[in-house]
Amino acid sequence: MAKFVGKSKLNAAVFISGRGSNLRSLINYSKKKLSPIKIVLVVSSNKEAQGLNYAKMNNIKNIVVIYKNIPKAEKKLLDTLVKYKIQLICLAGFMKILSKKFLLKFKGQILNIHPSLLPNYKGLHTHKRVIENKEKFTGCTVHLVNSCLDSGKIILQKKIKILRKDNENSLTKKVLKLEHQLYPKAIVKFLSNR
Ligand code: GRF
Repeated sequence: MAKFVGKSKLNAAVFISGRGSNLRSLINYSKKKLSPIKIVLVVSSNKEAQGLNYAKMNNIKNIVVIYKNIPKAEKKLLDTLVKYKIQLICLAGFMKILSKKFLLKFKGQILNIHPSLLPNYKGLHTHKRVIENKEKFTGCTVHLVNSCLDSGKIILQKKIKILRKDNENSLTKKVLKLEHQLYPKAIVKFLSNR
């Protein structure tokens, strides 16, 4: 962490599609003196996303990008990212796939958080599948984004034990709490190793 003291913070954008609890935790973290990032932009693929309220409450520039026409949507996205001099993109519940062309422009600069111990349980409904398979452990992962779903280099993971009384709902809550702790730590680790 000491590495960032006195250095200016990196401009970060957070991409969301819904609830935005990871966005909220990243905003809170980014306000800390020792945080290496400043969130200057929030992008939502959904105009009804609850998470947009956190951006508004914190006076963070926010845009809604409708993915009806993908090239058009990504053009708007890229123009805005350039305008706000974005150096790091954090996906947090963003439900759209970014094109290879887009990924190339931000190669090695896009992180995602996923609610499982990758490489296990890529994709959706992780907690349901984990319970169905009677797994003993689960957790969450922050990884670099590449063109294969939930498959980029793993930055950091956090593991918890699944209790007999756990169900999809209780796991969702427990893992989400872990995610809020993991994402800031993973960002620090990622930036320290660059
Ligand atoms: C989180 O579980 C995250 O891991 C997954 O989508 C969910 C987003 O939750 N990619 P929130 O919008 O941050 O509350």
